[in-house]
Amino acid sequence: MYSEKVMDHFQNPRNVGEIENASGVGTVGNAKCGDIMRIYLDIDDDGIIRDCKFKTFGCGAAVATSSMATELVMGKSVQEALQVTNKAVMEALDGLPPVKVHCSLLAEEGIHAALWDYAEKKGIKIEGLEKPKNDISEGLEEEDY
Ligand code: FES
Repeated sequence: MYSEKVMDHFQNPRNVGEIENASGVGTVGNAKCGDIMRIYLDIDDDGIIRDCKFKTFGCGAAVATSSMATELVMGKSVQEALQVTNKAVMEALDGLPPVKVHCSLLAEEGIHAALWDYAEKKGIKIEGLEKPKNDISEGLEEEDY
């Protein structure tokens, strides 16, 4: 049912953890299943993503897609990171079963929420980035996570 790549990223997820003083942090929830994802981005002065970490309270597909998404955005510019859609992540993982497609949205939305947070902190606007709908950062304290 799952590709080898999905199983690999689920069993050995890359970039799990937190970044202290991250440039941007995004926390999103999946309305369908209640799972939660938090993405941390470290972005340098040239707008390049130097580090990316994630934490998830979610299913295996969410873990695998987040793991792959963090690998895909690493080293990319903010604009390039916007191209890392859930479709791109699924392709990189050789696909997901149809019932698990919604899980891949968490990673994309988490990255967008973290980029939104970064843009707000810097007081800049990122072309093509919209306020993430499932951003649950507001009202969610660190302890609640
Ligand atoms: Fe919730 Fe996959 S079932 S993210």
